[in-house]
Amino acid sequence: MDRRIEDLFSLDGRVAVVTGAAMGMGRETTLTLARAGARVVGIDRNADVMEETKALAAAENLQCTFAVADVSRREDLMGVAQRTLASHGRVDGWANIAGILRYSLIEDITPDHVNEVLAVNQLGVLWGIAAAGSVMGKGGSIVNIASSGGEMPYPSLAAYGMTKAAVMQLTRTAALEFGERGIRVNAIAPGFVDTPMVRNTHLREDGTLDEAKRHEHLTARAAQSPLGLTGEVQDMAMTILYLMSEAGRFYTGQVLRPNGGVFFG
Ligand SMILES: NC(=O)c1ccc[n+]([C@@H]2O[C@H](COP(=O)([O-])OP(=O)(O)OC[C@H]3O[C@@H](n4cnc5c(N)ncnc54)[C@H](O)[C@@H]3O)[C@@H](O)[C@H]2O)c1
Repeated sequence: MDRRIEDLFSLDGRVAVVTGAAMGMGRETTLTLARAGARVVGIDRNADVMEETKALAAAENLQCTFAVADVSRREDLMGVAQRTLASHGRVDGWANIAGILRYSLIEDITPDHVNEVLAVNQLGVLWGIAAAGSVMGKGGSIVNIASSGGEMPYPSLAAYGMTKAAVMQLTRTAALEFGERGIRVNAIAPGFVDTPMVRNTHLREDGTLDEAKRHEHLTARAAQSPLGLTGEVQDMAMTILYLMSEAGRFYTGQVLRPNGGVFFG
């Protein structure tokens, strides 16, 4: 590959924080940013599963460290930001990926349901942006994960959808506030990606995976795409790499939609 192209996508010398690093898109993004040359601090509240990401990073000699933190707790993220700055000397990138999926019809939604989804999906991103801003100097890239569910309504996903719509608006506000420091803030709104989040919705009562139900769900979601595709975690990680790298320098306040064309914007 032409060296100039490689340089534009390289994260050599950069430091990035990734939330939700234990599994799914967060795991893949942690590994991808590190493969591009960044030193990555992966954080998640699930310490046990994060050990698997740690082992994968170690197997490739990637420069990754990991910390347990709950994104719904502002103090957790501020602490991660300060410790990352102290240990690595800089913070250039921050990906707010951690999220949760909960189903309920509007009439059945309880305050606990709403508060749980808001705390992680919406406030978790707000605290992540604030923490990133508190340690980034001049320049940097923050990427927030919204969802096609923030633009396309799905029955039983009212709380989830409203938090993801809020992430897009929060992204625009943050882009305005941080622009003069050269910090770019963008969101990606993924379409359907087969991750543990989705697989967990196909578990039987005994904890085993209902493959037939999963296959039916995947087929239905692929049929919504003009390409007949559902997404892979790598599709999301590569979009985030683009936004984190110099190649994405002209993007801020934008929502990129790696979604197979299920929604055009
Ligand atoms: N999978 C999809 O189809 C899809 C589509 C659109 C958007 N998204 C969004 O993408 C993001 C990643 O989704 P995924 O499918 O990889 O999910 P996943 O469930 O596979 O992984 C989510 C990770 O976030 C972590 N997490 C959850 N709550 C946390 C908290 N309070 N503090 C710290 N870590 C926490 C989990 O432990 C887990 O490791 C989410 O924000 C999700 O809403 C997913």
